[in-house]
This record gives sequence, C-alpha cells and structure tokens, in this order.
Amino acid sequence: MNARSARPARRNVVVLFVDLVGSTELAERLDPELLRQVLDRYYSACTAGVLEHGGVVEKYIGDAIMAVFGVPVSREDDALRAIRAAHSALAAVHTLGAELAPTHGIHLDAHCGIASGEAMVVDMPGSGLRVIGDTVNTAARLQGAAKSGEILLGDDAARLARSHIRVEEVPPLSLKGKAKPVRAWRLLSLEATDQHQDDDVPLIGRSDELAQLAHAYQRVVRDRQCGLVTLLGEPGIGKSRLVREFLRTLPEHATVLAGQCPSYGAGATFRPIAEALQSLRGSWTGVAAQLDAMSLRALQGLTAPGDGPSTELHVEETARSIRSLIEVLGQQSPTVVVLDNLHWAEPTLLELIEDTTAWLADVSVLFICVARPELLDIRPNWGGGMSCAFTVEVPRLGQEQMTCLVAELAASRSADAEVVAQSADTAYLSVVRGSDGNPLFAELMFEVMVEEGADAPPPPTIQALLAARLDRLGDAEREVLERAATIGQTFTTEELAVLWSGDDVADLAIDVPMRQLLRQRLIRRGSYPSSFQFAQTLARETVYTMTRKELRGAWHLQLADWLAGQAHTGQRDPDEIETGQPRHGEIAHHLEAACRITHEIHPGDPDLPSLTVRAARALISDGGQALYRKDLSAAIALLERGRELLPRGDSGHRRLALHICDAAFAHSDRDRTYAALDIAEELLPGDRRCALTCAIQRDILAIRFGTGRPALASLRNVLAEYPDDDLSWCRFHQLDAMVLLAQDQIGAAAIALREALGRSRSLGDRYEEDRLLGGLCELAQWSPMPVREGLELCASLLARFAGDRAILVPVLVTQARLLGLTGDIPGAREVLDTAERYATDLHLGLASIAVTQVRGLVESLAGQHAVAATLFERAAAMSRSAGQPAPARALDCYALRELLRHGDVRAAADGLERLDADGRSPLRGELLTTVLRALVTSASGHHIEAVALATRTAERLRSTDDLCLRGDVLIDVANVYHAAGRTVDATDAAIEAKRCYTAKGADLLSGRARAWLATFGEETGE
Ligand SMILES: Nc1ncnc2c1ncn2[C@@H]1O[C@H](COP(=O)(O)OP(=O)(O)OP(=O)(O)O)[C@@H](O)[C@H]1O
Ligand SMILES: [Mg+2]
Repeated sequence: MNARSARPARRNVVVLFVDLVGSTELAERLDPELLRQVLDRYYSACTAGVLEHGGVVEKYIGDAIMAVFGVPVSREDDALRAIRAAHSALAAVHTLGAELAPTHGIHLDAHCGIASGEAMVVDMPGSGLRVIGDTVNTAARLQGAAKSGEILLGDDAARLARSHIRVEEVPPLSLKGKAKPVRAWRLLSLEATDQHQDDDVPLIGRSDELAQLAHAYQRVVRDRQCGLVTLLGEPGIGKSRLVREFLRTLPEHATVLAGQCPSYGAGATFRPIAEALQSLRGSWTGVAAQLDAMSLRALQGLTAPGDGPSTELHVEETARSIRSLIEVLGQQSPTVVVLDNLHWAEPTLLELIEDTTAWLADVSVLFICVARPELLDIRPNWGGGMSCAFTVEVPRLGQEQMTCLVAELAASRSADAEVVAQSADTAYLSVVRGSDGNPLFAELMFEVMVEEGADAPPPPTIQALLAARLDRLGDAEREVLERAATIGQTFTTEELAVLWSGDDVADLAIDVPMRQLLRQRLIRRGSYPSSFQFAQTLARETVYTMTRKELRGAWHLQLADWLAGQAHTGQRDPDEIETGQPRHGEIAHHLEAACRITHEIHPGDPDLPSLTVRAARALISDGGQALYRKDLSAAIALLERGRELLPRGDSGHRRLALHICDAAFAHSDRDRTYAALDIAEELLPGDRRCALTCAIQRDILAIRFGTGRPALASLRNVLAEYPDDDLSWCRFHQLDAMVLLAQDQIGAAAIALREALGRSRSLGDRYEEDRLLGGLCELAQWSPMPVREGLELCASLLARFAGDRAILVPVLVTQARLLGLTGDIPGAREVLDTAERYATDLHLGLASIAVTQVRGLVESLAGQHAVAATLFERAAAMSRSAGQPAPARALDCYALRELLRHGDVRAAADGLERLDADGRSPLRGELLTTVLRALVTSASGHHIEAVALATRTAERLRSTDDLCLRGDVLIDVANVYHAAGRTVDATDAAIEAKRCYTAKGADLLSGRARAWLATFGEETGE
C-alpha cells in the first residue's frame, strides 16, 4: 500500500454492501456450530470475490459486508470491479444455498447495494481502513432497498459501468435520511454492450497519423520485414479509434490479429493473444496445419475456456508458439497484430513482443502497440534499438476539430427532439472548451449535457479516468499537484513555494516532481517564465476536489495573504500584464474559497466571521473596479457574491446596492436594478438612511425608465434631517440634475451635478466622482459652458481617464461634438471613430447610442442631412430597445428635422403625424416638434398658421438654456417668418440665434447665422 494512504484523503470511491437474506431464519434452523461454518464460508466467498476484483473489505457488520473499491488508489474501472465482485458474491451464496437446501431445507440468498462518490478515507496503520461519507450511507440504503438476489446501483455507479453491463432503472428510491429521492438501477447482467460496433460519428482529423500507419504497413510489405509502431496518447484521445479506422483501409488479403490487455485479472498475461486468435477462426484450420504439435497444443490451451493458458506449459513454450504462429501468418500474407491497452500488459507479454519483432525475418508483420503514456514508466526504452520501430504520439484535436466533433455528436442525436431543442450554441461551446481536445471527454460531456442540461457537473466517468491517472503518482508529485490545483489552472513555482512556507528546501522539493509531472504530460510549461499549466482543465478540477478541504482552505488563505502582501509592497502589480495572467480578483477568489470551505468544515471557527467580512470586502472592491471598467457582467457577479458574504446589518450593503443597481442598469437588466434596492432594505431592516438612499435611487430609475416623476420636495425635506449623509445627498443631487435635464435646464443640471461631485469627494468614492465628471463633461455639449471651456474639460478628463477606454467614450463623444461646433468636422469624425471602436470593443450599448447620436449631429453640421437623418433614426431605435423611450423621441425629432433640411418635406410631414400620436414629450421634444410643424406648414404655404406656431415656439424657448438648441430653433423660426414676408421678425430671430451661438462659442453656427443675415436680413445696424 502506498505511503500516501497513511494520511486522511478525499477520494472517489465505490462502496459495496452485501447482506444475507433471511439470516434470522438461518440462525433458528441451524445448530450454532453449523451456522458458524455456513457464515464463515459466506464471508470467505464474498471476501475472495472482493479481493479478486481489487477491493478492500472495510468491515463486517452482522451478516453484512462492506467493501471499498478505489483505495489506496483509484482505477477507472472501480465501479465495474465492484459490480463484478457483487455478482460473484451472489453466485457464491447461491452455490452455498444449493448445497444446504437438500439437507437443511433452507433457502439462502443475498442482496447488494453499490454507490460511487466522494468520501474521506482514513487508513492508519494498526487501526485499519475507515471510509466516511454519504456514499457509504447511500450504498447501505441501496442494499436495504434491493430485493433478494438483486444488485442495486446508484446513478453514478451505473453510469460509470454502463458500457459493460445491462441495467434497468427502478423508480427513484426515497431512502431513510436522504432529502431527495435517489435514482437507482437494477443490474440485469454482466454483458458488455459494445460501444464500438459502429462509430456513429465520422473520424475527425488524424490524416497525418493514418498516413504514418499506412507508410509503416507499406514498408513492411515492400521489404518483407517486421515493423513495430507504438501509438501513445492520453486516455480517450482516440488511439483505439485511429487503429479501427486504419484497419478498414487494409486490403482484403491482409490478416489482422487484434487483442486488448485487460486492466486486471488472474492469468491475464496472454489474454490479448487469446483474444486475437479468436479473429482467426475461419482460417484456423489452414494455419494449424503448418504448426508443430507443441505450438498447437500451447495455442489451443490459450483459447480454451478458463482464465489462462494450460498450467503445465512453461511460459517460454507459450511464447515460442505465439512467435511461430505469427511467423506462419506473416509468410502467408501481410499480417497486422494490434495489441491495445499495452500499458496494462504483463512484462512477459511486452518481452514477447520485443523478442518477436527482433526475431522474425523475411515476413511481412506489423505490430501496432497502443498504449497510454504510462507505458514508458514501465518500459522507458520501449521500442528503442529496433531499426523498424517508431512511436506516434496521438495529439489532442484542435479547437476547430473539436467544434466539428461536437456538431457531429449533435447531428448523430438529432432524431432526438429534446437534443435539438437544447442545441444552444453556448452549451456546445462549453463542451468544446471543457473537453480539452479529448474526443472521449467531449462525448461524455455531451451525453451528460443532453441528459441533465448544460450546467451538469463533469461526468463521473471522466473524473474516474482522471482520478485513476492521478492516483498512480507518487506522493511528491501529488503534493505539488494538490497545491497547484488550489492556485489555479496556471501556476508558478513561486506560488508553489509559498505553500511550502517555512520549508527551506522548497525549490529542491518542487523541482523533481515538477519534471516528473511534465514528463507525464499532466502539466505543461506556461507562456511566461516559471509558469505552468494543467494540461487538462478537468484534471485540475479533479485534483482540486480530491484535495482535503482542510488543506485547500488553509492554502487559499495563505495565497490570499501572500498576494495581498505582494500587492502592498509593490512587488507585484495586481494587474500585471506581462505575466499573461489576469491577476485581478485573485485575492478575492482565494479569500472567498477559504471562507466557503471554512464554513463547510469548521462552521464554528472563531475566525470565520472576520474572514467572511474580509472576503466580502475583497469581492465588493473587485466588483467596484469591474464596474468602474464597465465590465458589467463581471461586476454584477462579483458584487452579488460579495453581498452574499457580507453579513446582514453591515452598513456596506447600502453603497453596494447602488453599485449593483448601476451595473444592472448599464447592463439593461431592469429587474435586477430594483431587486438590488429591495434586498439592501431587507438586509438593513429599520435603517432609515438606507431606506432614503433606496427611495432616491428608485426615483432615478423611474426617470431613466420613463415610468414616473419624482417628488423632489418631499425627499429634500427628509434629507434635511441628515445633512451629513453624503451618499444620499450625492444621489439626490444627481436625481435633481436629471429632473432639470428633462426640463432642458442644462446649466442648472450642471450645477446640481457639481454639488453631487462635492459629496462624492467627501465620500472618497472615485467611482462616483469619475462618473459625475463624465456626466458633467457630457453636459458641456448642451450647457451654456462655452465650447472652448468644454474642450479644456475634455482634455483634462482625457488625461485623467487615460487608458480607461470605457469611461473615455462619453468624453470623446463630447469632444467630437464640440469640435464639430468649432467647424473642425474631420477632427470630430476622427474622434468619433475612436469612440465607436471603444464602444464596440467593450460592448457598451448605451455609449454606442451616444456615439451614433453625435455622429448625426456632426454630419448635420457638415451639411450631410440625409446621412444625419439615418444616424438619428438608428440612435432612436437603439435607445428604444435599451428601454429608454424619452431620449428616443428627441432623436426622432432630430431625424425629421434632417429630412426637412434635406428637402424631403413629405417624409417629414408624415413622420410628424406619427410623432404627434405619441402623446406628450419633454420640453426638447416639444420645441422641436412645434418648430418642425411650423416649417412643414410654412412649406405648404399656410403662412399665418406657420407664423403662429413659430411664435409660440420662440416664446417657449426661454425655458431652455441649451444655446445651440435655441440658436437652431431660432433660425428655423427666422425661416418661417421670412417665408411669410415678416422680414423684421425674421431678422430679429436670426440675430438672437447668432447671439446664442456666439455665447456658446459655436463658431461654425454663428458664422452661418451671420451669413443668413447677410443674405436675408434687414439692415438693423447690428
Ligand atoms: N478523431 C476522432 N473523430 C471522431 N471521434 C473520435 C476521434 N477520436 C476518438 N473518437 C471517439 O472518442 C472516443 C474515445 O476514443 P478511443 O476509445 O479511441 O480513445 P483511446 O485513446 O483509445 O482511449 P483509452 O486510452 O481509454 O483506450 C471513442 O468513442 C471514439 O470513437
Ligand atoms: Mg483505447
């Protein structure tokens, strides 16, 4: 037994319970002495069955026997072994019963339960083996539920052995002590259901490997020599499949002998050869005639029923007979001998193969040896030194090939309507990614996905395969892997050393096992110095789950502390890019993991509350950074995970709710925005400040979603009681700004935002501060702030936000608009291109609307009115689909105005009619609609009506301080007056427009107003 087993370990095990039926009756009928004899025979028959299949008897409980498979090392076929052991135990009980029946008139039977899953295994020398966990209870309960003579399997156990047995599902069992009904299967027989009779999915890729095999075959035939090709590759990579495909390409006259090495079993040495002989059946007589008597006898002994060759023949004799047979075959026709799963071969068979290849001459024989890489552990020089031998490594399939494979898997199941219904691309993609280029993993994951949905955990079959592989490692390798898995998919030797803290020889301790792990291809070198990666994602997951939580918890905490120390001393930038590994969130991740594990295994730990708060804060801080970067889905996930850990009653819930709300709003997730506020109030019951902040934020949402008007006055009254509540005040001023904005009081809105900015600075909240600065900057487009000042503000913010593309977008948009107003149209377009690129790259939906809108404004300034109209229409549609109808309506008006400027009066008039049906609109929309109507009416010659509309608009204009809007509307008004022959009024309006433009510093527009006056204006002495 491996030394590793001396320490407690978390393992995947298969537990078997066998119990005698009717033992009370037995005790009644039999004399105690005879009873003891009977029971002894029952125990030893069952124990022998368990041992033969590689299990360990954990204990005897009354007449029941509990056996465990998968200790001290797991094997991929542990479930099958347990099932076979149960089967043989039942057979032994039946035999015993048959013997006793005539003499004692008793009926003897047993029933069995088998479950597979995680358990803690403790094996202290002297005190025996102990297996603890739910798997044990499940197996015992299954056994209790099994009828006489029955073997009941749990779901995982049945799945693990499915291709080798026949089972039928029984109705889910409600087992004592189990919350949910347990799925169970009844064993029907031990018949293999050969999966490979026909490969449903066509072979993907592998042309190089097939060509190499074909080449080897041609050489063997051409040169009449013996060749040996070894195919090496990890489990499930497609070695056996490759060989099957190759055999199909062989000419008819070629002889094929194919056999597999079993993973265990007495006398298994020559079993693959015995199996191969079966394939000769038809031509056996002809071959036999050419063999000497001794060989014939030996070969017949191999194929005789029973476990192995006839015992009286020496191994050497058997080996010789096999060599003779192959020689005879090779002389007749080209012969291909396939030996699969050679990593399980007995040394004698390996020697036989090496001998035979070296010894055969003047015959065309090709040996194809198929094995997993561990063959090289047993035989480091396998195939070496032979002139006609070479090795082909079967690599993983590439991403494209895997995509193809998954598509084929889906197609092969397409008759199944449910599968088609589930064919969500993301689910398929997760199979492509999760299977790491391994076709078997893809098949198994696909199956589970089809049966249990996309979120199903990795199939137990894969875990068993990987666990078996990992269990063959030595202690040192395992120690490295367990730590590495805790660090993550990618890890460095430096991080590993941290987890050996206090151990001076860490470097030395890591070095040797690391080399071994690389050699076994369990890990590979990473993309930067001293970094490594797990070769398979699933392998990391398996190692991680098999590592004791006690250790994982401590290591996660150690890593968090170390990373925090590194970031603190500046030795390691938390955003380090050159390492190729995003360091963001690692501290929080490790703290969160440590916290969850401690919660599971030491819920009473006195340090748990402080650890929980620390983890929550780290998550919230990372979430805040993600929000700042506008990485919205990450922000939501992190903040909500932080919320889960942050204790009820912690005042941090208030600000957290606002951040979740902002992230959800920007992500167009309306339900989540409101839920965030409701949850905060639940977690801070009776907290009036929280209630107040939430009320303000709900009003902000109402404006944003266009669902209501806030009652500012009453909020302000309540707030007066909390003059120092910076957070509530900060949001209140923002709300105020939004209300003013809706009334086109841009200057006043800017003042409110400045108040909010002051509060955010007192809060020390950089997220809020930058957000407000961005908002203020955007307002510079519409507010009375002169263009030059606005451009200076943009320049300062571009410097402040440098490199932060997400928050740069609104600044760029503003800069573009302001540049356009100065007349620098090319400059404006260039800046917009940059903004658009950022918004697209970062999937910033709302920012894209702003970019499109300002593009429209700039194209309008450039005189490209048709283009501008299309851009405004697009922006309006985007705004509507983002659930923001109010700005959409203003955008519709802009679009119509561009149509009119383009000369398309008809389209503008039609559009206006549709707009009017929409009901009331905010001031900007109202002003634009009325002036448009005046223009359309004027164009149709109804000047009196047009002038009335224009005059009404001019009066309403005083309510807005958007100087460009005023200027634009006044020029339209001037045109209406001019068309009606009211030149003086027209001139006055144009002069006023020019004044507005000049005050804003919009040189392009003031120049145009001047030109208008020069052409149409009345001399006024201006
Ligand atoms: N290139 C491929 N195209 C399509 N399917 C494949 C391909 N390679 C393998 N498969 C499928 O993946 C599954 C696993 O392949 P296979 O049994 O050949 O793996 P293996 O390398 O022999 O594994 P093991 O070491 O466990 O014997 C099979 O169902 C096989 O049909
Ligand atoms: Mg295989």
